[in-house]
Amino acid sequence: YKLWLQYTPITNPETVANYWENVQNVISTENSETLNIARSELKEGLKSMLGDHFDISKKADNIIVLGSFKSLNEKMKNQLKYDFDKIKKDGFIIKTLIEKDLKTTVITAKNDIGVLYGVFNFLRLIQTNKSIEKLNIIDSPKTDIRILNHWDNLDGTVERGYAGSSIWNWQKLPEFIDQRYIDYARANASIGINGTVLNNVNANALILTPHYIEKVAALADTFRSYGIKVYLTARFSAPIEIGGLKTADPSNPEVIKWWKEKANELYKAIPDFGGFVVKANSEGQPGPQNYGKNHVDGANMLADVLAPHGGIVMWRAFVYSEHDANDRAKQAYSEFVPYDGKFKENVLVQVKNGPIDFQPREPFHPMFGAMTKTPLMIEFQITQEYLGFSTHLVFLPKLYEEVLQSDTFSEGKGATVAKIVSGKINDHVLSGMAGVANIGSDLNWCGHPFAQANWYGFGRLAWNPDLSADSIANEWLRMTFSNEENFVKPIQKLMLQSRETVVNYMTPLGLHHIMATNHHYGPGPWVSNLSRPEWNPTYYHKADANGIGFDRSDTGSRATAQYFPEIAKQFNDIKKCPETYLLWFHHLPWDYELKNGKTLWNGLALQYQQGVNEVHDMQATWNRMQAYVDETRFKEVQMLLKIQYEEAKWWRDACLLYFQQFSKKTLPDGVEKAA
Ligand code: GCU
Repeated sequence: YKLWLQYTPITNPETVANYWENVQNVISTENSETLNIARSELKEGLKSMLGDHFDISKKADNIIVLGSFKSLNEKMKNQLKYDFDKIKKDGFIIKTLIEKDLKTTVITAKNDIGVLYGVFNFLRLIQTNKSIEKLNIIDSPKTDIRILNHWDNLDGTVERGYAGSSIWNWQKLPEFIDQRYIDYARANASIGINGTVLNNVNANALILTPHYIEKVAALADTFRSYGIKVYLTARFSAPIEIGGLKTADPSNPEVIKWWKEKANELYKAIPDFGGFVVKANSEGQPGPQNYGKNHVDGANMLADVLAPHGGIVMWRAFVYSEHDANDRAKQAYSEFVPYDGKFKENVLVQVKNGPIDFQPREPFHPMFGAMTKTPLMIEFQITQEYLGFSTHLVFLPKLYEEVLQSDTFSEGKGATVAKIVSGKINDHVLSGMAGVANIGSDLNWCGHPFAQANWYGFGRLAWNPDLSADSIANEWLRMTFSNEENFVKPIQKLMLQSRETVVNYMTPLGLHHIMATNHHYGPGPWVSNLSRPEWNPTYYHKADANGIGFDRSDTGSRATAQYFPEIAKQFNDIKKCPETYLLWFHHLPWDYELKNGKTLWNGLALQYQQGVNEVHDMQATWNRMQAYVDETRFKEVQMLLKIQYEEAKWWRDACLLYFQQFSKKTLPDGVEKAA
């Protein structure tokens, strides 16, 4: 329940003594709600890890000074002047200053929330057994909006949520502030998350009524001192549903007036309200197109009403229509790129990491790099809709890293998705990263003990999209479980491998969207009877007697042409296309020869088998960890891995049996036959 903020007592007396040398007292140079939180977090954290005697000593030596720049004494200000020039808003400095044997560790920032971030960073050093003797850390967030998207409904259910029900108790709000809200805010602040969208993208307009605004305001009040702003999903047709108007046409004066008044009402209740996320004209949601208007008209109308209050609009690019069934992967690009430069300054376009929908593996979305005049936010899914819910162990930062480090070539070599979303490439004022939350009412927050790492990792990457999945796994394990090398090493390896493993047993070689219909759990490559063509798995794998895969190259849908030439050429050419995306971009014969010399059929079958074998290895590794993990978590993971193993076999058997009807080939040696 404590997530990565376990603050586990350090048992080695020598290590404790070493830390102790540097942290004999904490002095705050000023007071504010945020700084009080920072101070008590630091004291409690240190006390928990280093023992009770903390704070008894009143020696003026070896102290930690906490406070923002303006509160420091002149001497410190002078010493830190140049460092301050290097940090941005919300950044922090942790520096050891030594003068005549007197040692001071200063944790400071331009604002209070920066100090809180600095405190969590300092505690992380001890949590992960790092030295704090001579520190010189200067760090700032690389994106402005680091936000969770809760797909939570007002009735307490969570769309694509696998960890219980919503943590927002609308019935008891605004009076009852559940301790969970505070724990949630703390956890988010500890990784630099500074925003939360409380309700589902498939929104209910009721959230914008006075009854709910009062409840939203209570949450905003709770989160404020942790640096977290509250945002809402606005349902585009709200003026009709709750405003009594006949239309939601964004050019209608009555509609504009209604939204203006709504914004005034929201900001009166929540002065620092963040703004709106909008899913419009997608999957049946209302939007400007219902009135013959376009995304720009809709987004800019809302942007105008929020602008005087400092609010923003995150307009989602997740659109695809049944009227253009040629290739769903191309639609968001086709619909949005022509609007580049037309959105108001306070609009960000929120783009999913890949062009289809949060698959175990997708190439990066071609919109990244293609809209130079519009800030694009990236949207990742933290909840595992297509990746085994909260049952399968999958460490998603590996997926995030793969996408963020993809080179779009939009400005020549090195224009990675990470640089585009952090606004570096086209110098955008706004930048951001959104993650669809995997949080619920389950005791352990996320359903699977390891799913917490995906929330953690998302936050760390939103702060710095260039961090490595490797380092994130390492710190999370140390903070959440143990610093024992015999534990950290093998389990870190297991986590880093886990995403490739799930790709192997679900969708190897670029296959995608072959999950069972609707719920997306388990295999369903045979489904072909759904009303919309692009809802059917057969639309995506196109297996037939000739072969398998979706031809998106120049001989097919030409989706490859949406990428910059360097990438387009690569994806287009069967020989150059990375095999991880092979069947995403090409339809190939069953006996096509893979790089390892195997036929496509044999290679595919062996990869499914490899996925199964890898889960088996994960089980064996975990089983050796009993000594390092508490009984509850040890058993939970053990039981979940057992299910994962059975389901990896299910995936292998179902997919291979199904595809075998077309390939008409036997399974190669090494692939187990379905029982
Ligand atoms: C997926 C998901 C939906 C969700 C949608 C979205 O299609 O299955 O539940 O609403 O993505 O991102 O809007």
